Amino acid sequence: MNINLSDFAKSKILVIGDIMVDCYLWGKVERISPEAPVPIVQTLKRTYMLGGAGNVALNLASIGCQTDIMAICGNDKAGDQLKQMLSENLITSHLIFNDAHLTITKTRIMALEQQLLRIDEERIQTLQVGLKEYLLSKLREIILSYNAVILSDYGKGLLKTPDITESIISLCRANNISVFVDPKGKDWGRYKYATCVTPNSAELNLVANENIESEKELIEISERIRKEYSLDWLLVTRGSKGMCLTGEFPSPLLIPTQARQVYDVSGAGDTVISVLAAGVSIGLSFQDAAMVANKAAGVVVGKVGTQPITKDELEAVLNHS
Ligand SMILES: Nc1ncnc2c1ncn2[C@@H]1O[C@H](COP(=O)(O)OP(=O)(O)OP(=O)(O)O)[C@@H](O)[C@H]1O
Ligand SMILES: [Mg+2]
Repeated sequence: MNINLSDFAKSKILVIGDIMVDCYLWGKVERISPEAPVPIVQTLKRTYMLGGAGNVALNLASIGCQTDIMAICGNDKAGDQLKQMLSENLITSHLIFNDAHLTITKTRIMALEQQLLRIDEERIQTLQVGLKEYLLSKLREIILSYNAVILSDYGKGLLKTPDITESIISLCRANNISVFVDPKGKDWGRYKYATCVTPNSAELNLVANENIESEKELIEISERIRKEYSLDWLLVTRGSKGMCLTGEFPSPLLIPTQARQVYDVSGAGDTVISVLAAGVSIGLSFQDAAMVANKAAGVVVGKVGTQPITKDELEAVLNHS
């Protein structure tokens, strides 16, 4: 495979989807509360990360793509935090701040070398008609500058707004821009005509209403779903079993993972869709881009916590095989 990672700098990719703040509160525990049988965590520091669609954008920026994000958040402190983190990571933000929305924040209380508790502040909310029209008109203005669009659906409402996903996909297709979708839930009608959808095995089982056991079944059902939703490609991520790519070519492609030490699989799906879209946008075939994405995901599962892949790590893993 002929790939020059510095080509990523020429590629401009837009992520649209559910953005969130991942907050970590680090502390120590020295005593049990006199009020209730729970530990008292004395906080030492607080760290923030871009989560959800923000983590997809972070992966793209981290491998050197020109990266933009379009999303909605609240008019609140966490929203300001998002804006600052996006700018620190050189991600161009088309964030819509809205009073009726809340910036989704997931706070982990970390002590005794583990996660003690997670506190989620979120409201599942679709966009009001006016906001939807605003987002789509903004998108119509800027769409032609992108090489690819990624829809990162975490089920928080943005991409469930009636007709929004359908409108974005048809706008991309009308302008010959590939559109990649990381799906949520079983109603895939809104993803129809996307260039590629990237479910994990559980998400494929859900949409197909099956319990896939063999690779033969996996391939048959992938093909059925791909045709049912008129997708060019379907990339199923299979955890430690790797990936299955089906599309417009004679035989499906099963890509195994290389055995490695796994620390934290969260965020692997974000890395897959980012590297896949980036690879295709610089001219790799879907097969080659999927193989690169598989290697990239193999690196991030070896890191503690949700962290993006870097260009140097990708370079190293591609050269070692
Ligand atoms: N144990 C593992 N060893 C090597 N690679 C792995 C392992 N688990 C996951 N991967 C890599 O990560 C990819 C995505 O993993 P998975 O199918 O679990 O995605 P996901 O469920 O969408 O993840 P996420 O938690 O980010 O939503 C796999 O296709 C594979 O390339
Ligand atoms: Mg996923």
